[in-house]
Amino acid sequence: MWKMLGIKPLPFQVEILEDDSKNVIIVGGRQIGKSLTLAAKALWNAFVKTDQDIIIVAQNLRQAKVVFDHIYRYVSTNILIKKHTRKLTITEIKFDNNSIIRCLPAGRTGEGIRGFTATMIIFDEAAFIPDEVFVSLEPSLGVKGSQAIYSSTPYGKRGYFYQLYATEMAKNQAHRDFSIYVVPTTKNPYFSKQLLDRERQIKTPLQFTQEYEAQFVDESGLFFPFSLVFSCAEDYEYRFPADISSDEKYYLGLDVAYSGEDDTAITILREFANGNRMVQYVETISKSSVPELVGKIINMSKSIKFERIYVDKTGVGAGIYDLLRTSLGSVVYGVEFTEHNRDTMYGNLRLALEQKTIKLNRNDTKFLYQFSSYTAKYDVIGKLRLSKDVNIHDDLVDSLAVTFIDKGGGTIKVVDMGLDFSLKPNLDTRPFIKDAKWFVIGDFPSEQNRVK
Ligand SMILES: Nc1ncnc2c1ncn2[C@@H]1O[C@H](COP(=O)(O)OP(=O)(O)OP(=O)(O)O)[C@@H](O)[C@H]1O
Ligand SMILES: [Mg+2]
Repeated sequence: MWKMLGIKPLPFQVEILEDDSKNVIIVGGRQIGKSLTLAAKALWNAFVKTDQDIIIVAQNLRQAKVVFDHIYRYVSTNILIKKHTRKLTITEIKFDNNSIIRCLPAGRTGEGIRGFTATMIIFDEAAFIPDEVFVSLEPSLGVKGSQAIYSSTPYGKRGYFYQLYATEMAKNQAHRDFSIYVVPTTKNPYFSKQLLDRERQIKTPLQFTQEYEAQFVDESGLFFPFSLVFSCAEDYEYRFPADISSDEKYYLGLDVAYSGEDDTAITILREFANGNRMVQYVETISKSSVPELVGKIINMSKSIKFERIYVDKTGVGAGIYDLLRTSLGSVVYGVEFTEHNRDTMYGNLRLALEQKTIKLNRNDTKFLYQFSSYTAKYDVIGKLRLSKDVNIHDDLVDSLAVTFIDKGGGTIKVVDMGLDFSLKPNLDTRPFIKDAKWFVIGDFPSEQNRVK
């Protein structure tokens, strides 16, 4: 069957392709060929069986099209299959045996797919599909003769995909309604060992376990728990702002790469009149020279009048800060990543997540996963603190967090505009801490350690 996609399947892929159980769960590491396998399964079923109605669902159309495009490319170039195709559009393929494959975005509550019946429904990146979508689809998933396939890299012990997996795993094997595949990335020989080793170096063990060993990990002990991060994530596309309304403000955060191995990250934050913020645009740059980077930011600030440009001036960032400050003046703020500043930035960011005053992009899963590199610990006086390995790659979240250095408790604490924060060690930007909700919630180790 895999001749149809022109690829020889790996052993676990064959098993998935041939599995006709009513329900299939695939918990896979990154890059094991999940999307490709789902595409081949959909195409095979539609092509050889009559009257198949196959729906490929993902959180949005772009993700659903990842699977669909594999099929589309193959159908449009294979003479035999093309001959039996009646309709071929970028979201729908109909064959002469009355079978059809469609790709549909789930939307926030499943409105994009409600009412559709299908013989096979495929969920790609299921951990990122909102729970409401599955719940609204439950009636159609129960239909006799239909098959549901849920596939994803894990994203925390949370959400419908995890619940489905955990519920089935808890059952005695003989009583399971699902076939379950757990496939670590090492099972794909096409994913180089070199790349895998690099990922191991720049990720925390917890991140690596989840993303490459395909294990659901516990979110207790994380400074930014998965469920908290996901609750602020919505479906939109990044856009470099063009038309800026006068009641909105823009901020830029810059996290400069430490070494040639690292990336530099730029985050542009948009603030609405009510003070709520969203991540409007993100760019990562690998191996850029200092003049290039400085030139880029100067150019960006020609298009947008930033309220502030926050620069991580730790280490190599110091030179970039100096150059930007000379060119752009006091709009540029240098922030040194001292322990005090980290507590402030990440504490403020966490509070914004708690209060849902920051919106993240659900399509940027790399960004969402990066939040899990920050763990929480208690210090000797029982305060919740951030703990983080400096070697871990989390440029995206750092470039966001740096813009929160002066954003405490829902209002910006304006501090001596012309001065550099890092020169004012006594500056207390943390008055919000005493009543912050996040000190008393979460699954942290001991009750008495919590700040009341
Ligand atoms: N049997 C195979 N033969 C050749 N290449 C394969 C095979 N299976 C997967 N690949 C390759 O592995 C890579 C990953 O495939 P795919 O995008 O389908 O994986 P994925 O698990 O969906 O990845 P992600 O976690 O990024 O969504 C692709 O380059 C794909 O062509
Ligand atoms: Mg995929």
